[in-house]
Amino acid sequence: MPRPSSENHGLTTLPATDAFRVLSGVALPTIANGVIKRLPPVMRLAEKVRVDETADRVLRRLRDRHGDGPLLIKAGGRTFALPLSSADAGRVLDGSPSPFSPANLEKSAALSHFQPHGVLISQEPERGQRRQFNENVLETGEPLHHLAPALAEKVREEASRMLALAEVGGRLDWHTFNVAWWRIVRRVTLGDAARDDHRTTDLLAGLRMRANLAYGMKKNRAAREELGQRLRAHVARAEKDCLAGVVAQAPAQPETDPLGQIPHWLFAFDAAGITSYRTLALLATHPAERAKALEDKGPLLPYLRACELESVRLWPTTPMILRDSTEDTDWPGGTLPAGSTVLIFAPFFHRDEEELPFAHRFTPEIWLDGRAQEHPALVPFSAGPAECPGRNLVLLVTSTLLSALLERAEFTALTTLEPGRLPSTLDNFGLRFDITAPRQRP
Ligand code: HEM
Repeated sequence: MPRPSSENHGLTTLPATDAFRVLSGVALPTIANGVIKRLPPVMRLAEKVRVDETADRVLRRLRDRHGDGPLLIKAGGRTFALPLSSADAGRVLDGSPSPFSPANLEKSAALSHFQPHGVLISQEPERGQRRQFNENVLETGEPLHHLAPALAEKVREEASRMLALAEVGGRLDWHTFNVAWWRIVRRVTLGDAARDDHRTTDLLAGLRMRANLAYGMKKNRAAREELGQRLRAHVARAEKDCLAGVVAQAPAQPETDPLGQIPHWLFAFDAAGITSYRTLALLATHPAERAKALEDKGPLLPYLRACELESVRLWPTTPMILRDSTEDTDWPGGTLPAGSTVLIFAPFFHRDEEELPFAHRFTPEIWLDGRAQEHPALVPFSAGPAECPGRNLVLLVTSTLLSALLERAEFTALTTLEPGRLPSTLDNFGLRFDITAPRQRP
């Protein structure tokens, strides 16, 4: 239902009571879930008490009351701005890295625990060099990375082994999926010799747990150094058919720190595993879409890529996209001072039932027929100059995995997903599937 048009599209400073509602109903639950590493017990609780529905309700009421201009919150000597219109969110993302820098204060405090030189928290001029390096290695603009055949082979092998193990008990659970997923990630990123190098990814997991608490935790330099040494050894081996091999050959400028980019890739592949497992649940509960997915043809697998995008739309893995303004910016109704933090709350836009007829339904077609592009705030992989440079690589790996799984088995989700109104939180850790041999197709 279209929302009543409001006269106010400008900046509005929120009164203290409303500011508190945003803090307690939107910001804190998102942070409690584990921004850098998801926490299973919190996620279980979040699904049960439907925290994301509360967040959505809070923001919708504020939009009804104050109009769709950015809301301003002043707290602790800082200014926070919360865009509520698609156009304002799009303006901020298009304005990265200047005047809206991705290297936001809180994000930098968190990510510096394990990737102090990652592009996402770098300032110019280093940022430009690091972004270029990421784009070169990840082949951002290419739907199919030049290593696609080799990477797909790795994914298919691990999918077969995952299913062989799951078939023993007739069931696929998160643990079995996740162990296999990390083998895929290590082989794709670091090479086949890293398949069982749990130490490297466990070190990263420990540092990510600290990153959840950003300022509250001391840096663990010993763990970071050990991680760095192990990554150096994998890159020195330079297996040709993995990202580490490409890193070893790729030109780098003095401030690039090629090795320093890899922790972000490993970290971000976690989100891709979570998303793929949720996509499997969507396909297991939507027979018509599953039938289309089975017809999808490789190597591009456009329909499965759309399913994956749709899974991130429904359950964004980066719910809060943060930007810090580097200079004063003018908006209708006032000026946003330099140093303000802009908080784009993706779930609000991705499920906006007043704008999107498909808000709560699994609708992969929107990514294929141009409907998604009509909405600048549908941003599963962010947007603008700081959009995720790994997007195409992620879609390649995840669509190949889903295709391999669907070909080899029939999945029955043990969780009910109501197709007409999908839940606003989906606890991936609790999802389980019965698996049987695939039905014969005509
Ligand atoms: C489902 C999986 C993924 C999703 C949904 C995703 C989404 C995103 C989003 C929303 C951002 C913007 C973050 C921000 O501005 O704070 C981002 C940035 C980034 N992503 Fe991803 N990502 C995924 C996986 C990956 C993977 C696997 C890689 C690398 C192999 C990667 C590399 C990056 C990098 C380097 C940035 C920083 C870009 C910059 O600052 O210019 N991502 N991603």
